[in-house]
Amino acid sequence: MKNDIGRLSLRRLRQNSHVRELVREHRVCVEQLIQPYFVVDGLKDREAVPGMTGTYRDTPDTLLAQIDRDMEAGVRKMLLFGVPAEKKDRAFTSDFTARQLAAIKRRFGADLFVAVDVCLCSYTTHGQCGILTAEGDHVENSATVTELAKAALGFAQAGADCVAPSDMMDGRIAAIRAALDGADLDRTLLMSYSAKFHSKFYGPFRAAADSAPKGAVALKDRATYQIDPGSPRDALASSLRDAEEGADILMVKPGLPYLDVLASLSRAIPTKPWAVYEVSGEYAALELMAEKGLVNGPAAHAESWTAFVRAGASMIITYGARYAQKWLNA
Ligand code: PBG
Repeated sequence: MKNDIGRLSLRRLRQNSHVRELVREHRVCVEQLIQPYFVVDGLKDREAVPGMTGTYRDTPDTLLAQIDRDMEAGVRKMLLFGVPAEKKDRAFTSDFTARQLAAIKRRFGADLFVAVDVCLCSYTTHGQCGILTAEGDHVENSATVTELAKAALGFAQAGADCVAPSDMMDGRIAAIRAALDGADLDRTLLMSYSAKFHSKFYGPFRAAADSAPKGAVALKDRATYQIDPGSPRDALASSLRDAEEGADILMVKPGLPYLDVLASLSRAIPTKPWAVYEVSGEYAALELMAEKGLVNGPAAHAESWTAFVRAGASMIITYGARYAQKWLNA
């Protein structure tokens, strides 16, 4: 016998692509991916986001043109971030974002699933995700939740298929669900960023969304509302609570650095679909390595996405969704 392993060989099932395809347990499909967009009020021309290949701060016009091109490339699900020109400290208006949602829906109708991020960090003068106390040392929970529910309702009325609160205030899922129910919007999905960690991997995003904490206020970061990286139990509690309050979809964010959390939460709460957000810093990290010739970028992205599906995600928010048809075959 040439091979004394014989009966015990595991390499028999790895020997060529036909066999590998037949035995593969997890695969990623373009249909699982959600493409994020940034639309910015008052911009003259669109601007590239540093480090984020293919990602722009769009004007309302360039946004529609970009979505058009992306739909040609197979994108059917999107997540919108609206960035208003005027920053305030309270009594926010989300009309700019609502108008963009309505325009997208007018143009693409049911061919495109449109989710929208609900948060106040792009709306505030200080970049915090809500209304600050007079001392500037704390984000007021209930005043913020009231604003979030108002914004989410406006977005749903403008035609969003899904509202996705990313602020991490207590009770916002219940408040948004109640606001939607009150307006008979019982088909709008509610996707909670339920396990959103206090991460450094959001760096490139904050430049895109004008949302870095800034200014002369006591609060300098988001540690008092986002989850501590060392506290997966908090992520479980937050996800259980948000499921209970009426979230349809739960999420882990960021992705790769929290793959253990995704794997354990998706098993702990198997009755809800799980989303994962491959955040700006993760996407940029692979792109920067690829640019330096250190990795095959497309194949590395596809490998990350496979890890998400293996860990239990049924959908992936990624800045690379528009390239997926190419990258998944790289
Ligand atoms: C808003 C929000 C953030 C992201 C999504 N929604 C940033 C933050 O919390 O600071 C991050 C997305 C990314 O990095 O790609 N609160």
